[in-house]
Amino acid sequence: LDNGLMRTPPMGWLAWERFRCNTDCERDPKNCISENLFTDMADRLAEDGWRELGYVYITIDDCWASMQRDEQGRLQADPKRFPRGIHRLSRYMHDRGLKLGIYGDMGTHTCGGYPGTPLDKIEVDAQTFADWEVDMLKFDGCYSNTAEQEQGYPRMSKALNATGRPIGYSCSWPAYQGGLPPQVNYGLLAKICNLWRNYADIQDSWDSVLKIVDWFFDNQEVLIAAAGPGGWNDPDMLIIGDFGLSMEQSRSQMALWAIMAAPLFMSNDLRTISSGARSILQNKMAISINQDPLGLQGRRILKEKSGIEVFWRPLSNDASALLFFSRRNDMPYRYQTSLSKLNYTTGIYKVNDVFSGKSVTLKDSSNFVVSVNPTGVVMWYISAPAKPRPLPHQFSRGGR
Ligand code: DGJ
Repeated sequence: LDNGLMRTPPMGWLAWERFRCNTDCERDPKNCISENLFTDMADRLAEDGWRELGYVYITIDDCWASMQRDEQGRLQADPKRFPRGIHRLSRYMHDRGLKLGIYGDMGTHTCGGYPGTPLDKIEVDAQTFADWEVDMLKFDGCYSNTAEQEQGYPRMSKALNATGRPIGYSCSWPAYQGGLPPQVNYGLLAKICNLWRNYADIQDSWDSVLKIVDWFFDNQEVLIAAAGPGGWNDPDMLIIGDFGLSMEQSRSQMALWAIMAAPLFMSNDLRTISSGARSILQNKMAISINQDPLGLQGRRILKEKSGIEVFWRPLSNDASALLFFSRRNDMPYRYQTSLSKLNYTTGIYKVNDVFSGKSVTLKDSSNFVVSVNPTGVVMWYISAPAKPRPLPHQFSRGGR
């Protein structure tokens, strides 16, 4: 969507995977969906080095609303859990250099059973979000049919635009249409949405990450063509820092999401996150690969019988990212290859290892070995090849 927003994949924090629809503030005040949860996370984003790295969107998911609209038919926040309202919350974010995202649903109800946005409420709700100075809308698709979605998603895009406030627009539409053409029209999505959920919800497990990764790379040709500055495929939240992933698997999720040019929305508890998980999420080189301004989504280039898979993403300044991923579960696997086998042209390349911080120089034809841990990755940032030296003047051909 050409609204000037999200020219690189958006980054931030999203409540759903970690905090779900926990509304029990009596018994679980620290973890229930309430304004305190969002101000707590905002404080962490602002004070623990996240914001400076680009993690600026903090997004409310389902279960924030009151069961009743107000007398004027507008959505309102649950008065117990959000006593100061959403507008105060967006000011809180803006005061700290952050942006607030909110959640709505194209349909009669949200997936959690809260009031949705049926067709005749789209303009009202868009205006309400703009009045609250919200910066992003995640628009879910429960409780509507195909025909309603076909009208509703483009109409919300128009309605948001008509408010005059720049609001990033995340569409769950394709996830409700099976994620693939001909049901999904990616050309249209890229025109009306800044990002879109293509596939099933992530859960807190490695198994769930693998299912998502398989689907995205098995369908990479269609998905790569859809993505670019202002419009991104969304394989769902980062679960790094939660309970389901080992450190190896956490690096794998970070690396694969960087290759995919995926939005980096963490869903974790930033108040208690381990330093290991934090350093993976704050890895500057992984982030810069994810945020590359060319905005070309990367691809899987090799699937070896050994269980090693190789991924590649072209980056600006003739640089690139290479990723070696192991599906094995036995021991570190020593994978031997060369840059020329991986389609690199003749030259000498500087290679930076994203997670170890080491760098080496590699000639295109030289064989090398990478040791890839079970369920883990080795990720490289590869600079443009060194230019061959220009010929001395007397040998150059042609003339003035
Ligand atoms: C389905 C979405 O895909 C999830 O990300 C989350 O927003 C839930 N609905 C909320 O009910």
